[in-house]
Amino acid sequence: MNTTSITILVLVIFTLPTQSISLSTNGSSSNIGCIESEKQALLLFKQHLFDPTNRLVSWVEHEDCCRRWVGVVCHDVSGHVLELHLQNPPMDDANSFAEQKAYLRSRLGGKINHSLLNLTHLSYLDLSKNDFGGIPIPHFFGSMVSLRYLDLSDAGFGGLIPHQLGNLSNMDYLNLEDGYYVENPLYVENLGWLAGMSQLKYLDMSNVNLSKALDWLQTVNMLPSLKELHLRRCQLPLAVSTLLNPNLSSLAVLNLRGNQLDNTSPMIMSWVFSLKTLVSLDLSDNHFQGPIPDGLQNLISLRHLDLSANQFNSSIPDWFYGFSPLEFLNLHNNNLQGKISSAIGNMTSAISLVFSGNTELGGGGIPKELGNLCNLRSLSLSSVKLSQNISDILQMLSLGCISHGLEYLDLSFSNLFGQLTDHLGYFKNLRQLYLSQNSIVGSIPESLGELPMLRVIDVSYNNLTGSNLPETHSANLTNLRSLRDIGNAFIVKVHSCWIPLIGN
Ligand SMILES: *[C@@H]1O[C@H](CO)[C@@H](O)[C@H](O)[C@H]1NC(C)=O
Ligand SMILES: *[C@@H]1O[C@H](CO)[C@@H](O)[C@H](O)[C@H]1NC(C)=O
Ligand SMILES: *[C@@H]1O[C@H](CO)[C@@H](O)[C@H](O)[C@H]1NC(C)=O
Ligand SMILES: *[C@@H]1O[C@H](CO)[C@@H](O)[C@H](O)[C@H]1NC(C)=O
Ligand SMILES: *[C@@H]1O[C@H](CO)[C@@H](O)[C@H](O)[C@H]1NC(C)=O
Ligand SMILES: *[C@@H]1O[C@H](CO)[C@@H](O)[C@H](O)[C@H]1NC(C)=O
Ligand SMILES: *[C@@H]1O[C@H](CO)[C@@H](O)[C@H](O)[C@H]1NC(C)=O
Ligand SMILES: *[C@@H]1O[C@H](CO)[C@@H](O)[C@H](O)[C@H]1NC(C)=O
Ligand SMILES: *[C@@H]1O[C@H](CO)[C@@H](O)[C@H](O)[C@H]1NC(C)=O
Ligand SMILES: *[C@@H]1O[C@H](CO)[C@@H](O)[C@H](O)[C@H]1NC(C)=O
Ligand SMILES: *[C@@H]1O[C@H](CO)[C@@H](O)[C@H](O)[C@H]1NC(C)=O
Repeated sequence: MNTTSITILVLVIFTLPTQSISLSTNGSSSNIGCIESEKQALLLFKQHLFDPTNRLVSWVEHEDCCRRWVGVVCHDVSGHVLELHLQNPPMDDANSFAEQKAYLRSRLGGKINHSLLNLTHLSYLDLSKNDFGGIPIPHFFGSMVSLRYLDLSDAGFGGLIPHQLGNLSNMDYLNLEDGYYVENPLYVENLGWLAGMSQLKYLDMSNVNLSKALDWLQTVNMLPSLKELHLRRCQLPLAVSTLLNPNLSSLAVLNLRGNQLDNTSPMIMSWVFSLKTLVSLDLSDNHFQGPIPDGLQNLISLRHLDLSANQFNSSIPDWFYGFSPLEFLNLHNNNLQGKISSAIGNMTSAISLVFSGNTELGGGGIPKELGNLCNLRSLSLSSVKLSQNISDILQMLSLGCISHGLEYLDLSFSNLFGQLTDHLGYFKNLRQLYLSQNSIVGSIPESLGELPMLRVIDVSYNNLTGSNLPETHSANLTNLRSLRDIGNAFIVKVHSCWIPLIGN
């Protein structure tokens, strides 16, 4: 055999999908079990862990670590441990207090013994959602050169991230997202070491303090394979010394939410607008101001755009509604002005649109072309100044296909007047309807009772009279969970059909 065929053989052995997750199979074909030295390394690792709920009860000497130990994946032929899946398993029901307590209790903690180094073929390590009590990320992780996937997110590591990680040149997934409120947050002195992970496709360092990483932009620009970059709330510094050539030719997801970025570093914006492959861009909760940037027009593949919680203060230009097939758009809490133009009819891919919290936007009302957005499921126009007759809005939208799919409609605080009409009955899929803080008069139409999916209605602080629910058809509202009707002049209160009200 020459070198090439040996290489190919090795590649075949180590890359074929012959892995098996212990417990999920009852080893039938493979003949090699756990390698003894690797079993001992794992037992020593376990011995130094704190495992209050005994999640690793299956890790015992007399069982085959490849077939019987939870979270361990071995190579079927060589028997080497390839993967450790030790994340705290997600809750089924995050709303249940008991489940939350159980979830918190089942976090692993303690120390991470460097016996892990003996797992010479380990390529996948997931310790996420555990609680290591603020200890630093072990330096020796940087010597586990087979690693391709490392998830330490929200696992309670703290302090300086060891630059040794940069030695992991095979890495393609790195998640170091820190918890939101932690006593000992992760931080870096610089990000130069990241350049060593030249094959990285996914990087998340959200909540890590990067305020000293003046080189962050240069460094991430040197990761040409990057597809997703998440740097939420990293205190990213503005200073950028040199101009960049765009280098990231496949970046699809960029999240820079919550970084206090502003217009004093035009370089950041011009870098963002050079990323022509972006599908999702989140610049929300920064300090950007001025007009909606023209450069967005370069991002013709964008489907998800979040510019909320900035200070953009122009009108919305017509091109904005058609430059890419946007599905999710959030412009909440800016200072946008002017009309919502008829060009909004170009947003034929839109699923969710949020214009709320722009108190100078929307004069002249909703254009009828909005009714043409057949895919729209969620529309928020609260706290804008529509100053429109609600009966005109309902009639106009009921004519378009928008009425068939709309599930969430928020028109609260928008200077609406006039009466609710039976056109409401066209919105068959409506689940949540918010109309509070307007000047709507008259009574609730019977057709409201024809909306079987309705869960939440908020008509508070209007000038409604009559009955707070349609008197004859209210029994049809079997899904109703919340009715907020305070601040009206209802004479009849129909209270027969719903479960205790929430959110009052
Ligand atoms: C796994 O195989 C062993 C014998 O090889 C057998 O005793 C055992 O019942 C099997 N377990 C399952 C879950 O199939
Ligand atoms: C790990 O490997 C080293 C060197 O190969 C060996 O001396 C040590 O005993 C091993 N540790 C365990 C826990 O297997
Ligand atoms: C790893 O385990 C060995 C043997 O128990 C111990 O001497 C060493 O201090 C441990 N290291 C860490 C970092 O826990
Ligand atoms: C990086 O890896 C090389 C070779 O694998 C090793 O010699 C060196 O000590 C490692 N450096 C760090 C900082 O871990
Ligand atoms: C982030 O790091 C900088 C520099 O070390 C420090 O001044 C700042 O207080 C840190 N921020 C937080 C929230 O810890
Ligand atoms: C682009 O990425 C390559 C590979 O990491 C790097 O060598 C090069 O310097 C980068 N170019 C720029 C302009 O950053
Ligand atoms: C928008 O904000 C910028 C910067 O704060 C300001 O100079 C400009 O006058 C504002 N434009 C409008 C239309 O309010
Ligand atoms: C958007 O809509 C306007 C007016 O409805 C129309 O004139 C224009 O051609 C449309 N633009 C695109 C890009 O579809
Ligand atoms: C609202 O529109 C309806 C139907 O066009 C009309 O009858 C009504 O008078 C209008 N209400 C107000 C206050 O303008
Ligand atoms: C609502 O309920 C009433 C009485 O139960 C029934 O007669 C009516 O057909 C229902 N309306 C709709 C639209 O389902
Ligand atoms: C709404 O009711 C308030 C007090 O009940 C009244 O002062 C106000 O004029 C009414 N507005 C309209 C539009 O009817």
